[in-house]
Parts: sequence; structure tokens; C-alpha cells
Amino acid sequence: MIVLGIETSCDETAAAVVRYDGVRDDSVVLADIVRSQLDEHRAYGGVVPEIAARAHISHLDGLISLAMETAGIGFDDLQGVAATAGPGLIGGVMVGLTTGKAIAAFHGLPLVAVNHLEGHALSARLGKQVDFPYLLLLVSGGHCQLLIVEGVGRYERLGATLDDAAGEAFDKTAKLLGLGYPGGPAVESAAARGDGSRFDLPRPLKGRPGCDFSFSGLKTAVRHAVEALPGDTICATDVDDLCAGFQAAVGDVLADRVKNAIALFRARHPAGGTLVIAGGVAANQALRARQASVAADGGLALALPPPALCTDNAAMIAWAGIERLRLDMTDGLDASPRARWPLDPDAPAVSGTNHKKGGKR
Ligand code: KG4
Ligand code: ZN
Repeated sequence: MIVLGIETSCDETAAAVVRYDGVRDDSVVLADIVRSQLDEHRAYGGVVPEIAARAHISHLDGLISLAMETAGIGFDDLQGVAATAGPGLIGGVMVGLTTGKAIAAFHGLPLVAVNHLEGHALSARLGKQVDFPYLLLLVSGGHCQLLIVEGVGRYERLGATLDDAAGEAFDKTAKLLGLGYPGGPAVESAAARGDGSRFDLPRPLKGRPGCDFSFSGLKTAVRHAVEALPGDTICATDVDDLCAGFQAAVGDVLADRVKNAIALFRARHPAGGTLVIAGGVAANQALRARQASVAADGGLALALPPPALCTDNAAMIAWAGIERLRLDMTDGLDASPRARWPLDPDAPAVSGTNHKKGGKR
């Protein structure tokens, strides 16, 4: 089975081709093309939805052609088309979903309208033996959630952020410290040089019951620490130490919340299981290492997609399409684009179902 994936829900235009050979370990990414719109949005200090949608229109067709060419296949070789149908910036989602529908209709292929979050959620199974059920920590720019994944389309949310997503906190901290956007990689490399114990930063909700998160207080504490520094300018060592302190605090909070989630997972599934960490923040090497010990303490295996599959890409969308096609879960050409689309149908309407990257930051 060969599937074309399309991703346009935020500021990456992406097209990918993934082949599945019947044995899960045999899935192969034949092409994975991602074009970031960083340059288009830089001057505005955040993602501008209208500019994002126009850039997707300009580049998507060319990226799909490139992906097909890279994979060495024609449209007749495809068994399906998977396009992100939400959640995200609605203009961009419409561009990708409409393009996917057009290709599916013209070539008589089944369409899968993929939930972007399901793309992240299933990304650890692309090319790896990760069986259901598993515990998922989904940490990206727009989302921070803990879920039990019982199967494709079967999610139970244990907790979510009450305010900022983890990646959003990285981005806002980076902006405050004069580092570029996206903030995650910049904060990570500064943190590697810094002393994480110099600043005493809070660990919001740590030690409290439940699996919710809160990061806005941490971001504010970084701002207060900057304001308390002597002099008018902030030196490179201060930036490094603040980044290290911030990253250590995020690591502690995630570890504490994951520990509580493991207890809930264990109540449901007494043996076995895996902790999967997905989404852009899962590309952070220090956080990956920190959560490895939490999983081991809880008796869970750990599965982390490679960093390129953590940040937004279309290979994970193609893979989610394959997972659904294998179960005959296809969508009609009337599938609607959705700005909001929680993975868990029982999710509360507001808390934690953040609009992905919420438009202009
Ligand atoms: O999954 P993603 O590409 O987009 C969303 O679906 O939101 O995640 C992007 C987020 C950004 O906030 C970015 O700063 C963060 O992931 N990120 C990182 C790292 N790389 C990307 N955060 C921490 N460390 C990183 N190395
Ligand atoms: Zn994402």
C-alpha cells in the first residue's frame, strides 16, 4: 500500500509518500518533503494565518510533484490520499484538504481526512513495532496532552494544558530572551551551555494530583528573573542559564505529570505498555533523556519517533492514512476542514483543546 500524505495545518507545507508492505516493520518513507514558512512570517513575530494559507497555495502543488518524483512513482501507483483536515489554521487546512480531495477524485483513490493530532499520535508506529495500547505524551507548539491510545481512533485523554502548550512556552521564552523563532531548538542549544541550577524557577502543578499541565507561570517567572538581573542588557551566560533552568523545569513538570499518567495507565493495563512521546517538543534531546528514566521507573518501554517525525511533516499524515485504510476507515469527498478537533470525543470544550498554534502569536 502506497499513500500520499499532505500537511498544511500551520506554517509547514509538506508532502510525503509512505509505503506499507503488510508487515508493520516494513513501512518505508519513500519521500518526505517539508517546506517551512519561517521566512514569510519572521517579520511579524509569529504565524499570520492569511499569509500561511497563501504560501500553502503557492507551494503545495510543487511539493507534491517533488514528493512523487522523489518516491519514483506516479499517481496510478497510489492506493490512497491522506490530507490533514484539522485542527489548525482553517485557511491552510482548506488548501491541503481540497488538494487531497482533488487528487483522490481525479485518480479514483480513497481519501482519508486525517486529524493532525492523530498523525502525531501514531507517528511512533511508522517503521517501528509499537503495539496498542500505549501512553502518549503529545507535546507540540499548540498542544500538550496525555492520552491513552487504545487503537486507531480510540483515545482517552488523561490531562491537558490549562494554558500554554509546552512548545508555546519554549517559543515565548525564546522570544523574551531574544532568541529566534521557533524557540525550541534555540532554547535547547543555549540550555546545553547553561547552568540550570542558577535560577530558581517554579514547577507548576508538580506534586499535585492529575495529569494537567500549566506553563504560563513558568514563562512569567523567566520574565521576572530577567527583570531582576542587574544592568540594562542580558549577557550570553544569563541567556544560557535561563534556558537551562527553563528546560529543566519543563522536564521536571513533564516527568511529574507522566508519572501520574503511568499510574492511571497501569490501573487499566496492569502489564506491558509503552510510553510514546510525540510532537515538536519531543525533538528535544534533553527532554527525551529525562522522560526515558520516568518510563523505566514505571515499567514502560519508551518509543520516540526520530526528530524529523516529531516536528510537523506529511509522512506522519500518510502513515495515519495507512493505519486507517487498513481498517477501511475512509472519508467522503464531503469531509469538512476543522479548526478545532480534539482527539478524545469526550474532551471538554475549552480546556486543553488549544487551537493549534492559535494563529498570530
Ligand atoms: O509539532 P510541531 O512542529 O507543530 C505543532 O503541531 O504545534 O511543534 C512545533 C513546536 C514549536 O513550539 C517548537 O518550538 C517546538 O515544537 N520544538 C521544540 C524543539 N523543536 C521544536 N521544543 C523544544 N526543543 C526542541 N528541540
Ligand atoms: Zn504538529
